[in-house]
Amino acid sequence: MCGIVGFTGSRQAAPILLEGLKRLEYRGYDSAGVAVLDSGDISVVKTRGMIKNLCEMTHDGADVKGCIGVGHTRWATHGVPNDVNAHPHLSNNGRFAVVHNGIIENYAQLREELISSGIKFKSDTDTEVVAHLLEYYGDEDAKVAVMKTAARLKGSYVLGVLCNDGRLFAIRESGPLILGIGVGENYFASDVTALIAHTKNVIYLDDGEFAELTPDKITVYDCTGSPVTKPVSRVVWDVEAAEKGGYEHFMLKEIMEQPRALKATIEPRIKDGRIVLEELGLTDEELRDVNKIVITACGSASYAGQVGRYVIEELCRIPTQVEVASELRYRGPIVDSHTLLIAVSQSGETADTIAAIRECKEKGARTMAIVNVVGSTIAKLVDHVVYTWAGPEVAVATTKGYTTQVAILDMLAIYLADKLGRIDKERYDQLLGDLQEIPSKIQRAIDLNTHVQYLAERYYQNRAIYFIGRNLDYASCMEGSLKLKEISYIFAEAYPAGELKHGTIALIESGSPVVALACYERLFDKMVSNIEEIKARGAKVLAVALEGDKRIVSQADDFILIPRSDPLLVPIAEIIPLQLFAYYVAKANGCDIDKPKNLAKSVTVE
Ligand code: AGP
Repeated sequence: MCGIVGFTGSRQAAPILLEGLKRLEYRGYDSAGVAVLDSGDISVVKTRGMIKNLCEMTHDGADVKGCIGVGHTRWATHGVPNDVNAHPHLSNNGRFAVVHNGIIENYAQLREELISSGIKFKSDTDTEVVAHLLEYYGDEDAKVAVMKTAARLKGSYVLGVLCNDGRLFAIRESGPLILGIGVGENYFASDVTALIAHTKNVIYLDDGEFAELTPDKITVYDCTGSPVTKPVSRVVWDVEAAEKGGYEHFMLKEIMEQPRALKATIEPRIKDGRIVLEELGLTDEELRDVNKIVITACGSASYAGQVGRYVIEELCRIPTQVEVASELRYRGPIVDSHTLLIAVSQSGETADTIAAIRECKEKGARTMAIVNVVGSTIAKLVDHVVYTWAGPEVAVATTKGYTTQVAILDMLAIYLADKLGRIDKERYDQLLGDLQEIPSKIQRAIDLNTHVQYLAERYYQNRAIYFIGRNLDYASCMEGSLKLKEISYIFAEAYPAGELKHGTIALIESGSPVVALACYERLFDKMVSNIEEIKARGAKVLAVALEGDKRIVSQADDFILIPRSDPLLVPIAEIIPLQLFAYYVAKANGCDIDKPKNLAKSVTVE
C-alpha cells in the first residue's frame, strides 16, 4: 500500500526521493508525488499513474531543486486516483507538505470542523485534514504543531511532514516507518528496501513515536514530546537482493531464489542432528502447557498456516485451527493462557493480522509470529518470534515468503512433537533428514520450469480453472489457486476433492480444466477415483503427483511429477510448479505480473 520516503542532506533531494519511490513500487500504488523545499518555498509535483510519469515530468527530479523533501506513492482509499488526490498535500498557507500511509478514521469530523472554521479543501482524501490541522496549530513551534495534530487523529497514520522552515518530521501510529542514518544525511521510508542503497543503519520507530530529522541528527520523541533513546539496527539485506538481477519479473526471480531462501531458513536451525528453535524463547514447560493452537494470517500466509495445521495436528496431536485474521479479530476468539496464537506474515505489517494478535493477546493467549521482515510491527508485537530468512520479497504474489513460512511451521511441529514426547527417534531422524534435503528437492522442482511453461501455454486461455486435492494437497490447492487468480485474473478456486459430489461437480463440463493434486499418498487411491469422476464428465485434468506415480500418468491429460519426500513435507515442493504455472499463464495473458491490478504487497489498512 502507500509508500513514503523522506530525505534531508546536502545532495539534491528529488532524485533520491524518486529512486526510493521506485523501490517501493512493489507495494502497489496508483499515483505518486514529491514535495521539495528550496529557499523557503515547497514545490509539489504529483500525478496519477506510474512513477515514470513523475520522472518524465521532472527530468528524473532535476527540475525540482532543494535538498530536503518527502515523496509518496498512493494506493487510493479515500477519493479516486487522480492528480489532486495524489500526495503530498499542502496546507493552504504553503507552510506544510504532508504524505500519509493509513486511514484517518475521524477525518470526516475533522474536515467538517476545519471547513466550519473557514478552511478550504482541494481533495477528497482523508490526508488533507492533516495539512490543514498543521496550519491551524502552526503558530506554534513546528514540533508542537506536529504533536497537537497527531493528538487529534484517530486510526492508522504514518506521516511525513515537511515544513517550509526546513524542518522534517516522521510520525508513526499503526504502520511501518523506518529511519535511515546516513553520513551528513538522513532518511525515512516505509520499508528498508528504499533505504538500503544509502545506509544499512536504521531505527525502527514504535507506534506513538515521532522523529525530527536534520542532515546530522535524528531525534526520536514519544507522543508527549520527550526524547526517546532508540537502538540502531543493522539491515542484513543488500541492494542486489531487492533488484531483478536479470529476470524479467521479480516473481520469477523470487521463485528461483527458493532453494537458497529455504536453505537459509532451515540450515542454521539444525545443529547436531536436532532442530534448535531457542530464538522462540519458550521453555519446555511453557510448550507442554499449550493445549490449543490458533494460526492466524491473511491470504497466502493463511494457506501456509493450513499446511502447518495438518502437520502440527498429525505430529503433536494438539487441536489446531486456522482462521483468517479479518474474521478472527471480530469473532471474540475463544483463547486463554493455554492457547498458542501463531501469526504468520511475510511483511509483518498486515493490518488485520496485527488486530487479530492484539485481540488474542488481550484475551490472554501466548502469541508468536513467523515473520520475514525484521523489526516489523508484528515481530515487535508478539511474545515470541521466529524469522523466515527469505530476503526481501518484492513481487505482490508471494513465493519464497510462503515456502519459508511452511518450512518454519514444519520445523515448529517437529520441534514441539519432540518436546512433548510424541515422536519417536526413528521418525524424528527421518523427518530431519528429509527437511535437510528440501533445498535440493526444490531445485529439482524448479528444473521443471520448461515443462510447466509448455503446460501453461496449453491452459492460459481458459477463463476458469479448478483446483482439487485432499488433506495437505488441499492446502496447496488453496495457495495454487490464489497464485493463479491474483496475477492472471483467471477465476480459480480450490475444492477439497471429497466435496466435489456435494455441489462443485455440477460445474464440470466438457473441457473444464482441473488441476488435481495427488501427492498425498495416503489418499492417493481416493484422488484417483475423484479424477476418474471428473474425467467421466469431460474435465481436462492437469495432475501433480510424485515421481514414479504411473497411474496418474495414464489417467491425466497432462501431468507434473515432483520429487518425493516425507508426505508431511511434500507441500513445499508441490507448490513450486503451481507458482510457475500461475506465472507463465499470467505472462501468456500479458498481465502485469509483479503489480497485479487492485493489489498491494503490504496491506497496511483494514
Ligand atoms: C499472496 O500472494 C498475497 N499477495 C497475499 O495474499 C499475502 O499473502 C497476504 O496479504 C498476507 O501478507 P503478509 O504475509 O505480508 O501478512
